Amino acid sequence: MDIINLLELEAAAQNKLEQTAFDYYVSGAEDEVTLRDNRAAFSRLKLHYRVLRGFTTRSLETELLGHKLSMPVLIAPSAFHGLAHPDAELATIRAAHAAGTIMTLSTTSNMSLEQVRNASPDAMLWFQVYLYKDQSVSLEMIRRAEAVGASALVLTVDTPMLGRRERDIRNHFKLPDHLRIGNLMTTLPSVDGSGLGAFVRDNFKLEIGWDDVAWLRSVTNLPILLKGVCHPEDARLGVEHGAAGIWVSNHGGRQLDSSPATIDVLPRIADVVAGAVPIVLDGGVRRGTDVVKALALGATAVALGRPVLWALALDGQAGVTHALELLRAEVDATLALCGYDDVRRVSRELVG
Ligand code: GLV
Repeated sequence: MDIINLLELEAAAQNKLEQTAFDYYVSGAEDEVTLRDNRAAFSRLKLHYRVLRGFTTRSLETELLGHKLSMPVLIAPSAFHGLAHPDAELATIRAAHAAGTIMTLSTTSNMSLEQVRNASPDAMLWFQVYLYKDQSVSLEMIRRAEAVGASALVLTVDTPMLGRRERDIRNHFKLPDHLRIGNLMTTLPSVDGSGLGAFVRDNFKLEIGWDDVAWLRSVTNLPILLKGVCHPEDARLGVEHGAAGIWVSNHGGRQLDSSPATIDVLPRIADVVAGAVPIVLDGGVRRGTDVVKALALGATAVALGRPVLWALALDGQAGVTHALELLRAEVDATLALCGYDDVRRVSRELVG
């Protein structure tokens, strides 16, 4: 692959993907203000590097909820990897494992939890959950995640309805006939609008509240991260309600348009969390400099969404490996040029 950075992946992948699949992945909600601002906000921040510190080797390793990661980058949950490549999530988890990082499997993956686990028995696997209207469906899914050795649940909390992605509405987005939602062996409805929007409306518990977080804690011993937090007060409440981690995300700009860029809200959230639990951030991370900025402002690690899908479309498992290794090289270069020898020592003064 002659791709040399993650930003190049999207245009290359566009040539390989069905238009409706590309549109589904690429979309943000409505005017896509937040989608663009996730990237723009990173460029507004500057790295105030230090010199003459004499480091020759660097460590990118970090620890997250008991896992040793080879770098502070993990795979964010994203739906329907089968739209990108026939190996779907099996390729993604193998690449994550090879890179020494965590794969967060989406509830709405094309491959089931069991298939994904069988593809990579030793991989670090987290499972993203939405709660279902029917509590028994949620419970069964959680038991299956536990049974395959998922080591954390990532509860997405920003979806009281699906954001309005206008391309999906126009395309009447649904899954092609050969794909299923693997964990449910079902598909998306054919509707006049987004099939995923209708699926969410008909199946997910939409009125979730803090009592649902308490319920989830009461039915599992797995640590629970809350994904979709952008307000410091919600981060505070999350810690108070026993979240094991706060995942700062605006769903890749796919939910509330005009929500703030994640990197812009990170410092205030980090102040409130004050090290009580780890913080993961996603949204617009494409460069090693983005990763280091997020660490400086209080994240323990960042997560990658769309670049993984583009890389998967281009070259399956090898494509995802290529993308992860490009980012690793950039994080290492950024660290060197900033005058740091360890990602765990990056602190706020680096961003000014
Ligand atoms: C699903 O959660 C999506 O963002 O499409």
